[in-house]
Amino acid sequence: MVETSIDKILEQATEELAGAVDPDAVGQLQVKYLGRKGLVTRFLRNISNLPAEQRPAAGKRANQVKKHLEKEFARIQKQLEAGNQVAERLDVSLPGRGVLPGCLHPITQVSREICDIFARMGFEVVEGPEVETDYYNFEALNIPKNHPARDMQDTFYISENIVLRTHTSPTQPRVMEKQAPPVRIVAPGKVYRCDSDLTHTPMFHQVEGLLVDEGVSFGDLKGILTAFVHQMFDSRTNLRFRPSFFPFTEPSAEVDIGCVICRGKGCRVCSHTGWLEILGSGMVHPAVFENVGYDTEKYTGFAFGMGVERIAMLKYQVDDIRKYFDNDYRFLRQF
Ligand code: DAH
Repeated sequence: MVETSIDKILEQATEELAGAVDPDAVGQLQVKYLGRKGLVTRFLRNISNLPAEQRPAAGKRANQVKKHLEKEFARIQKQLEAGNQVAERLDVSLPGRGVLPGCLHPITQVSREICDIFARMGFEVVEGPEVETDYYNFEALNIPKNHPARDMQDTFYISENIVLRTHTSPTQPRVMEKQAPPVRIVAPGKVYRCDSDLTHTPMFHQVEGLLVDEGVSFGDLKGILTAFVHQMFDSRTNLRFRPSFFPFTEPSAEVDIGCVICRGKGCRVCSHTGWLEILGSGMVHPAVFENVGYDTEKYTGFAFGMGVERIAMLKYQVDDIRKYFDNDYRFLRQF
């Protein structure tokens, strides 16, 4: 009787061991049968409760079974571990690691998209230096010596007459000095300001635009910028030209678009105004033309400048500018 029950345990253990597929499963069986509360262990402990004449045979058989199972568990365990190692080294059917393809940074993408839209309207893409002279960054643009934009707080000075450009506008006089009208250019690039908070970083990107010819009017400025906004966002986007001031344009206007989040109803992003400012613009100031030797009687023109991060934030509805500079791959790979 007793012997049959220990043999049943052996039979069951052997069967289960045969079905074990990995070392973990063997470990679990070892606990089930040979652990402190295991079936074999419990059998051995209960032998003292048996009638005296049965105890020797039951004890002998149970010890045989225990030894046998210990050996078997160890053997199978070793086999499975070895098998796993071989599989790890040699499974040629496993898919490869794969190489993650790189992509252009979203700011680069948006900057190029802006330039592409203007290129299709006949604008040439040019670039100017990031380390700029005081003359091109300020003086040539009719920004007088006492203008607040020259304050040490905003401008990174390299020396008394050399700055990190605070905007892309210096490309305007640089191009006009070298080229007679007509001029149609856009100039993308990095600009620098001593400013850092939730919506400002010390380096950011702008795209400048300039068009000069005979008979250019504010109506042309409105037409070109409206076409741009409709391509950049969508053709339902409303525009508003709001009077403003820049030393290098007269008249000047800031352009707002109907909030892309709430469609003009009013929300947190547009401070409940329904409008978002996206760029500065205006008719080129005659003083700027005089600085580059253009005939102010013959030529008129318009200029504009926009922040790429701002446009990217609106286009992709990202509310923290720093995301564009953290270089977290999980953020970047979405573009
Ligand atoms: N340079 C200006 C800025 O950084 C933006 C700007 C405004 C550029 C009006 C222009 C313009 O060309 O006409 O804030």
